[in-house]
Amino acid sequence: MPSSGIPVRAGEAGLEIRQSQAADRGAQGRLFDQCFGKTDGASVLPWRYDGCPHGTAIAPAALGDDGQLLASYAAQPRRVHFRGDATGASVIAQTGDVMTSPELRSRGVFTDLHWVAMGEAQSRGWPAAWGLPNKFSGHIFFDKLAWRHAGHIGPWNFVLATSSAARAIRHQNGRLAKWGTPWAAWRGHAARRKATLPGTTVERWRTVPHDVKGLSNHVEQDFDWMVHRDAPYLTWRYLDAPCQRFALIGIRDAAGALIAYTAIQRPWGSDPDPACKLGFIVDLVGADPGAEAMALDVALVALARAGAAVVRAYAMRGSHWGRVLERGGFRRPRGHKEVGAYPLWPGHPLADATMDTSRWFFTDGDRDDEYAR
Ligand SMILES: CC(C)(COP(=O)(O)OP(=O)(O)OC[C@H]1O[C@@H](n2cnc3c(N)ncnc32)[C@H](O)[C@@H]1OP(=O)(O)O)[C@@H](O)C(=O)NCCC(=O)NCCS
Repeated sequence: MPSSGIPVRAGEAGLEIRQSQAADRGAQGRLFDQCFGKTDGASVLPWRYDGCPHGTAIAPAALGDDGQLLASYAAQPRRVHFRGDATGASVIAQTGDVMTSPELRSRGVFTDLHWVAMGEAQSRGWPAAWGLPNKFSGHIFFDKLAWRHAGHIGPWNFVLATSSAARAIRHQNGRLAKWGTPWAAWRGHAARRKATLPGTTVERWRTVPHDVKGLSNHVEQDFDWMVHRDAPYLTWRYLDAPCQRFALIGIRDAAGALIAYTAIQRPWGSDPDPACKLGFIVDLVGADPGAEAMALDVALVALARAGAAVVRAYAMRGSHWGRVLERGGFRRPRGHKEVGAYPLWPGHPLADATMDTSRWFFTDGDRDDEYAR
């Protein structure tokens, strides 16, 4: 953190900084649409900033003399457990939606909002922050704000079909991948284990059962960093998400105990857009490798039924989730994006774990983006 303290005005323009409130989401949504080329800011930001059961986002905004909102920054809270220790659970921030009105860029506005957000997160006792910088923000986070390189995230693909849509999606990985679509589909099919465990039942969740908390507690024991899952959190994350594109599926053993769940993101779009044939596994938690393998297969079957030609899931390089996908026949990512992290309370076990994403249990559902792309 800069020793000069937290600024109260942003950038050379001297914009007024204040923490935004629910009433600011409309203005933030408009800036979001302008800065990211989207159209859904007004519906997504209230859900994202104010609805999460893990807490309200820290979202400082910068305003002009006339009160117009000209820049904004968000740090989204997630309750993370270290090796299942609920007593040591802490809130880790994911930074996102960093946006400065185009005419005010390169004048230090984002930089000042960043330090305001980090100061507030530190004063709330949050041990660390992390984020997925893009080509506009990466050099600022890493070169000017002293963020650390914590790992890489990449898209794994499972080819379900050899259709033209599957080839178009595979083309995103290059011409070789496009031509290799039939081979990839065959490889996936061969690797796919018919992993149905005897006596199990599969259920589609319209409401999230409360025993998901016990499953999360159990899996958290094996990881240095895992977002805690329970019914209110999964309900908000998937069932209440404005896009309404997720389905949750649980698996129970013969005694009725919950052994796994998965969240899928159905394909959408319109022909000939290949996105209409791309489905995602956005979350999967299993009590053991057998339950994970069965949940992976259940997710693939559900996505095939929903019309997917290719299924995608993002994983941190070297992570548990990446290994689950590899064992399940997913194709390795061709490119990776860098993940950044910043310790707010150095020495805290979760601050240390945040600096190395291979130690995380992490799926797409743990990102602050509403849905995967
Ligand atoms: C990324 C983004 C938020 C940066 O906002 P910004 O307000 O321009 O950022 P800053 O002014 O703090 O920093 C930008 C640059 O200005 C420099 N700068 C200029 N004057 C400065 C000052 N007085 N104080 C601090 N930095 C200053 C910074 O060092 C930095 O270096 P650069 O010129 O090498 O890029 C902005 O480009 C944006 O909204 N992009 C579109 C949305 C987006 O993609 N966001 C990223 C999502 S991950």
